[in-house]
Amino acid sequence: MKNKTLFVFFFLLLAFSFWDCKNTSQQQKNESAMTDEQEAVYLGKGKQIAAVTFTALSQQLQKAVKEGGIPNAIQYCNLAAYQITDSLSQIHQAVIRRTSLKNRNPKNKATELEQIVLADFGKKAADGQALEPIVKPLDGQKIAFYAPIKLNDFCLNCHGKLGETLTDENYQLIKKHYPDDKAIGYASGELRGMWSIQLTK
Ligand code: HEC
Repeated sequence: MKNKTLFVFFFLLLAFSFWDCKNTSQQQKNESAMTDEQEAVYLGKGKQIAAVTFTALSQQLQKAVKEGGIPNAIQYCNLAAYQITDSLSQIHQAVIRRTSLKNRNPKNKATELEQIVLADFGKKAADGQALEPIVKPLDGQKIAFYAPIKLNDFCLNCHGKLGETLTDENYQLIKKHYPDDKAIGYASGELRGMWSIQLTK
């Protein structure tokens, strides 16, 4: 008899804990759902942060090219790209990352979630569809903003096809700083990676 009561008690306990679990995940789902207006606000915010960061990076990159050509700019990227994104992350209270399925800096390797979004952007690009920035609610207080990054002719100096748009000399220098580099072989207009910006609600 005692055993039976104990059994019922544990059964109820188990049932309640599942019920509670279901409730919290439902609650999280509701919290993370976004209205169209909220989506537009976060899209705008993400686009603005990506644009500011892109401008900062490319201004400095062009300055470095002017001062000492592509080799100087490679050294510059190696030293400064992270500092720039980090300081802008602090100013905007967001985590700003650039990531790619073929990353140069190991720190920019895509997370599992980012790999899914990158694969989706890649598929759309291959199908000739337009690529648009997107926002996705993450658990808790975070919103992820993703936007495609495409290459232009200038980028190919450091991300192009070896022996064609990318010289052996420049690639030696890149390899010196990034022995595991995967970020070459691209043509102009191709998808290189994406912005991955974590916004706080
Ligand atoms: C002077 C050489 C150079 C040029 C030109 C250049 N890059 Fe890069 N790129 C680099 C280096 C070096 C890194 C690694 C930076 C770091 O350590 O964070 C990098 C990193 C990146 C990343 C981050 C992901 C990764 O692979 O680590 C993206 C995205 C990227 N470049 C896109 C571009 C685009 C788009 C252009 C043209 C608008 C461009 N790059 C032009 C050298 C260059």
